[in-house]
Amino acid sequence: MRYLLEIIASVAALLAGKDSVLTSVQIYPNGTYPGAIDPAAEPGAQFLQTSPPFYPSPWMNGQGEWADAYAQAKDFVSQLTLLEKVNLTTGVGWEGEQCVGQVGSIPRLGFRSLCMQDSPVGVRDTDYNSVFSSGQTVAATFDRNLFYQRGYAMGAEHKAKGVTVQLGPVAGPLGRAPEGGRNWEGFSPDPYLTGVAIAETIKGTQDAGIIACAKHFIGNEQEHFRQVGEAVGYGFNITEAISSNIDDRTMHEIYLWPFADAVRAGVGAIMCSYNQINNSYACQNSKMLNNLLKNELGFQGFVMSDWQAQHTGAASAVAGLDMTMPGDTLFNSGESFWGTNLTLAVLNGTVPEWRIDDMAIRIMAAYFKVGLTLHEPPINFDSWTLDTYGPLHYAVGENTQQINFHVDVQGDHGTLIRDIGARATVLLKNVDNALPLSNPKFVAVVGEDAGPNLDGPNGCSDRGCDNGTLGMAWGSGSANFPYLVTPDSALQAQALADGSRYESILDNYASSQIIALVSQANVTAIVFVNADSGEGYINVDGNEGDRNNLTLWQGGDELIQQVSAHCTNTIVVIHSVGPVIVTNWFDSPNITAILWAGVPGQESGNSITDVLYGKVNPAARTPFTWGATRQDYGTDVIYVPNNGNGAPQDDFVEGPFIDYRAFERQNTTPIYEFGFGLSYTTFEYSNLQVIKHNVSAYAPTTGVTEAAPIFGNFSTNLTDYLFPNASFPYIRQYIYPYLNTTDEKKASADPNYGQTAAEFLPPHATDGTPQPLLAAGGAPGGNPQLWDVLYTVTANITNSGTRDGEEVPQLYVSFGGPNNPSLVLRGFERLSIDAGQSTTFSADIVRRDLSNWDTVAQNWVITSYPKSVYVGPSSRNLPLSQAL
Ligand code: NOJ
Repeated sequence: MRYLLEIIASVAALLAGKDSVLTSVQIYPNGTYPGAIDPAAEPGAQFLQTSPPFYPSPWMNGQGEWADAYAQAKDFVSQLTLLEKVNLTTGVGWEGEQCVGQVGSIPRLGFRSLCMQDSPVGVRDTDYNSVFSSGQTVAATFDRNLFYQRGYAMGAEHKAKGVTVQLGPVAGPLGRAPEGGRNWEGFSPDPYLTGVAIAETIKGTQDAGIIACAKHFIGNEQEHFRQVGEAVGYGFNITEAISSNIDDRTMHEIYLWPFADAVRAGVGAIMCSYNQINNSYACQNSKMLNNLLKNELGFQGFVMSDWQAQHTGAASAVAGLDMTMPGDTLFNSGESFWGTNLTLAVLNGTVPEWRIDDMAIRIMAAYFKVGLTLHEPPINFDSWTLDTYGPLHYAVGENTQQINFHVDVQGDHGTLIRDIGARATVLLKNVDNALPLSNPKFVAVVGEDAGPNLDGPNGCSDRGCDNGTLGMAWGSGSANFPYLVTPDSALQAQALADGSRYESILDNYASSQIIALVSQANVTAIVFVNADSGEGYINVDGNEGDRNNLTLWQGGDELIQQVSAHCTNTIVVIHSVGPVIVTNWFDSPNITAILWAGVPGQESGNSITDVLYGKVNPAARTPFTWGATRQDYGTDVIYVPNNGNGAPQDDFVEGPFIDYRAFERQNTTPIYEFGFGLSYTTFEYSNLQVIKHNVSAYAPTTGVTEAAPIFGNFSTNLTDYLFPNASFPYIRQYIYPYLNTTDEKKASADPNYGQTAAEFLPPHATDGTPQPLLAAGGAPGGNPQLWDVLYTVTANITNSGTRDGEEVPQLYVSFGGPNNPSLVLRGFERLSIDAGQSTTFSADIVRRDLSNWDTVAQNWVITSYPKSVYVGPSSRNLPLSQAL
């Protein structure tokens, strides 16, 4: 429908003697939009919606900060043979070498293979590494500096293990539905907050000298049905993965937004996701990869597939995929869509030479951009075993040697992790100064979530269980704990130091003992509860990745109600992967304090003790909304296929209205709103000032690219591509770029071999001629004028209490249009303010912050609806405001 509208509009424009609106220059005087078409009133997501084609795949051009890296990559790639280029693009197969994914090496140049390794919380599947807080937890700090420091520290640990690409950070899932199993790996359902957090994390990681990989691109909002095999394993009869159906405006304003920040921050790699977007798989979706990511956002790095998320060979190559992971079609199949097939496809002209060159250039430019050299130290760990000696090619048990060197890469990161854990803890309720604790007479800690996993902190593979305190959730986004400080041990140590009496009961169902304990005189009861989730390949307690509900696990609600029924000073600590329903007990007068501590990583107990005892004055803000009911969110996971055995259809019909935007629109009062969090001191807001800057009008990017460049050349003699001589090691299942015969058809093992590109690739897929630039593009992240500062907003913040503290003033904008969220976050800062002192909060509003995506102009536009700014301590407490 939308495209029909575009066509009608272009025809009308042509008849009126104007340029087509599809290509005309859209500049509105004073930066305003006439409002004839409300860009926000576009049709939303549709069942079985399709994804339009966009070809050819944009070739890298070294724009922005990429110029030097591009030049280095050109030199290097120009020396490579076709086989060597293919090696850079294709993984060697699942468990083929030490890392969770590795591409081939270039032995002729002594260039070792690139190592791709999870996770977004630390180096996965090894030892002597740290476990950091989840992305969602650090998001609660609203602290740019901590985002950066965490990224840097994780990057340094990966680097010291020999990793080339850290598989994180995460902006997909964004957190459309609170039940989404991997929301905790990302930051926040607010795209602005996620955008800031992902950008700072990437800068940190890449400053440490490795490539960051922003994932999962895009619409990867639930675990159910993300992969057919997994779904079938759970008993669902589907033949295609889920399609996230997302309209163009919502795509730009919500889901693509943080990826634009990632690209602008210089991210070297992006992982395409398992799901389909508008019924086209993410790793071969030319609209997403060619149009949005590489053209509009000007992404200069490389796109790698999620593990087994590639479904075609030449088609994915021309749709913008640059690297296939782990390289085999299915784990350990010994076959690849690329490898040999990519070599053949280039030789026979199906995939143009410029495209394989572009893949290689993008990979190597990302490599050089972060300072990696051609002679990096070897990988010193193995993902598949912690044994010191073992098979290098684990999948087939070959080449036994020392594979784990047990290198301790932790440095002093425990201190940072402790600090992040404390400064991410959100104080949701604090009555009559119940907190901070000060030499309490008797501390009674209750709940499994305060104690250890009896099988050890790493007792469940990939943390796939909910035993003991929740320091980390489950899936590939986890890492092995070097230790896990439990709340019980840290609080006991504090109590002993204070001379307090201390007892803990770590069994949620020991009712009589719990009641007997917390009914005693002088008791301060601290109840620990949790809610867990993770990645779809693990099912914990019937939760196939996504949470089945938003209630607390292990009888947490009953536990809280039981304790608070007998103790008038009950403090609740929640470790969770997102919001939980607290409706039945949060306002009990006996519950004097509630804290959300996220999933804080290895220093969990120390972090929470620092907050409970006031060593850290809390200032964190909840990075999501706490609704009274599950239904209040207006979005949910699809748990049952809704399209026969075809791809389940996940229609994002709510458009941009997720999390607090949905609550505002429906006029539903949450229990704790987005951005809310208390302190042990108080703050006052005053003196809002808005300074308008004079900037030139927004001009669309125009012009055309260069023709696709080619680097080096390749032999057309098929004998040059045969597997090398007998002395070259052949490893079973390993994915090579070689042919096993000079008979192309036989080498391809494809009965239909011989079709030409024109017969089965979309129009323009192989066209290397100069291409028009997009109006909204022009630089990494998009049109550079989107970052013109239009306004600077300042306010005075005074610490009016008696304790030194930190405060997170937040700036929101209302767009004024009938189809716009009433408020959207557009600025924040974490400020340290001593008691009695004042400081100035200052935030810049850039053009993008005030723009809507215009689906007809295919560009950002500021509508003429009246706009206002608001400043305050949370999304529903905004004492200062002014019209713009
Ligand atoms: C699948 C996950 O979706 C992705 O996040 C991860 O990086 C890869 N597996 C590799 O473990």
